[in-house]
Amino acid sequence: MEKEAKIAVSVLNIPIKEIPNAINEMAEEIDLIHIDVMDGKFVTNCTNGVEMFKMAQNSNVKIPIDVHLMIENPDAALPDYKGADIITFHIEAVKSEKEAKNLINKIKNIGAKVGVSIKPNTTADTLKSLLPYIDVILLMTVEPGYGGQKLLFEPLEKIGELRKMGFEKIIEVDGGIGLENSDIVRKMGADILVAGTAVFSSKDKLEAIKRLKGIS
Ligand code: DX5
Ligand code: ZN
Repeated sequence: MEKEAKIAVSVLNIPIKEIPNAINEMAEEIDLIHIDVMDGKFVTNCTNGVEMFKMAQNSNVKIPIDVHLMIENPDAALPDYKGADIITFHIEAVKSEKEAKNLINKIKNIGAKVGVSIKPNTTADTLKSLLPYIDVILLMTVEPGYGGQKLLFEPLEKIGELRKMGFEKIIEVDGGIGLENSDIVRKMGADILVAGTAVFSSKDKLEAIKRLKGIS
């Protein structure tokens, strides 16, 4: 049987005020709402993460929220995302293991699952000492900063590497996932697929989500 995956829909490229309706419309199939927070420093683009997060919380149907912090100072932003199901920071944004462990504890204390993300060129090994403390690894398959980019296949090898290193929790893949490549990402062992463009450019969003999941 084909491996199924959960879908986190990225609302990066829709107008903020349309977020609640978009969620209501997709509620039946969507597993998580993915909020891309960008500060114009860690990545050149900037997004109003707090507003996006509030709007996602405003939908009629309550769907777990997955916050992806692409920012230089994740520590200062954490209180803004209380209520999120997963909060993910980038390993490239922290200067030491001590700082990473401190962030991990703070995220746990606000009641969210802890995610750590790595860019396409950062090795799986970089996360080795943190593996026992984290719940989610978010592997980027595009350079963070924009939606609508083409998926890079090489970073997918890190799924197997992380499993060999003993990581048994959630592996999420983000960037450039579409109907033409989602089966490969699932087969390589991803648990959650992030999708923005592939969902919002489809006429039938629910059908697109089902196909990305591998159930249709
Ligand atoms: C990129 C973001 C992704 C991305 C997903 O920096 O983290 O979440 O926008 O969008 P698509 O599916 O368009 O690549
Ligand atoms: Zn993202």
